[in-house]
Amino acid sequence: MKKAAVSVSFSNVISKIDNRIYGSFIEHLGRAVYGGIYQPGNPNSDENGFRKDVIELVKDLNVPIVRYPGGNFVSGYNWEDGVGPKDKRPVRLDLAWFTTETNEFGMQEFDEWLKASGSEMMMAVNLGTRGPDEARALLEYANFPGGTYWSDLRRSHGKAEPYGIHTWCLGNEMDGPWQICHKTAYEYARTATETAKLMKWIDPSIELVACGSSNFNMKTFGEWEHTVLSEAYDYIDYISMHEYYENNNDDTPTFLAENIGMDRFIKAVVAIIDMVKAEKKSEKTVNISFDEWNVWYHSKKHDEDLEHWGRAPHRLEDVYTFEDALLVGGLLITLLKNSDRVKIACLAQLVNVIAPIMTNDDRAWAQTIFYPFLHASSFGRGSAISVSVDCETYDCRKYKNVPFIDSVAVRNDEKREITLFVLNRSLSDDISLSVSFSDAVKPVEHIEMAGYGLKDVNTCESSPVKPVSKSLGAETVEISKASWNVLRYTY
Ligand code: AHR
Repeated sequence: MKKAAVSVSFSNVISKIDNRIYGSFIEHLGRAVYGGIYQPGNPNSDENGFRKDVIELVKDLNVPIVRYPGGNFVSGYNWEDGVGPKDKRPVRLDLAWFTTETNEFGMQEFDEWLKASGSEMMMAVNLGTRGPDEARALLEYANFPGGTYWSDLRRSHGKAEPYGIHTWCLGNEMDGPWQICHKTAYEYARTATETAKLMKWIDPSIELVACGSSNFNMKTFGEWEHTVLSEAYDYIDYISMHEYYENNNDDTPTFLAENIGMDRFIKAVVAIIDMVKAEKKSEKTVNISFDEWNVWYHSKKHDEDLEHWGRAPHRLEDVYTFEDALLVGGLLITLLKNSDRVKIACLAQLVNVIAPIMTNDDRAWAQTIFYPFLHASSFGRGSAISVSVDCETYDCRKYKNVPFIDSVAVRNDEKREITLFVLNRSLSDDISLSVSFSDAVKPVEHIEMAGYGLKDVNTCESSPVKPVSKSLGAETVEISKASWNVLRYTY
């Protein structure tokens, strides 16, 4: 058995973790809304048409914020279509996903759903087909108390109190040629800045996220961030990052190291933010909203052949494997390691569409990736602690010197708990891990996901891939090959 060591100093604090790092995302796409969170007439739904079985699983995940309504969808969306009497709402073509949108569900229903799920809205404005005027109208509708056209319209829709939406995205992936009304960096930077200015004039308490690059490989990466930040720096609070990971080559050693790529991407964006900060001699620090991240590739072939203009088709329905769960654990470790700058992150998405939760007409179930997210959201609140890891490394196609063990700790002073998240990337070796702490601790439990085939999945029929709770030794822990581990201690 290989050996490794982790040492944890209680005072090695990276940052207090912003709970919004455990955010997620619901887009009007495929069966995320219709047939996912909302299915009137289904025996599992409540009087509002909300799937109760889904709400229970979402509550387990304790998601503090959910981005809405897109994604690519938002760049062609008229928010007014989704408020007011349902029988007056128009049916429209959605050019982002080539489907038909009935608008039966909009922000009014989403707000109710969030209340039932214990979460908050992160709202995106359309900077594709629309711009500053609609964004300011939407903000006035959502957050202004009353006595104006848009706020009174909201009140006439039965919502006397403002929605009070705090976190807003200035469009979505505007650097991407696939985006409805894609823009150059300068075109976007100007629109985003003027939109941000108007929005902050209406409600200075809100926080704004400007679009960064759609992924690290975009040709415009770097120049895009620099241009957007140079124009918008004074008005925005976050710049977004998006990235999806895949194992198309069936190269698991590389796949399990992809969170190193995520780390490099974050560090690169931080460097550009701080360069602009220096250029402007600004006191203010812009942070990161990593508002789309996940594994996405299993469903791509299937989706190429989808017919146009269907309603809520099965789309982006990745069925996640055990190895996907391992990488999602690794990605969560990386987000926590960077929690000094990543303040918001959204697992994309939440239900049916590249999601931890799946539904059919009979039931809802947890995919493999549900569990590492559940663990991080449950035990990863407090302060992130950088740990020192001593272990062997390996080389793979994309990365050199990849440590077999990846780890971060989270200390929760209210609960007097400290938790270590540990990924073992070795596909062949269990590792005897010696764990030492600067302060006295008492072991509580070892939650482990291990021993499954790399391609094992959970489906509506059976869900074999799930964590088990084991007893935790005081000094040495056996970390199984290819495993995700949560080591819980009190102090
Ligand atoms: O999450 C699915 C899609 O991925 C989103 O609509 C878009 O923003 C990204 O390209």
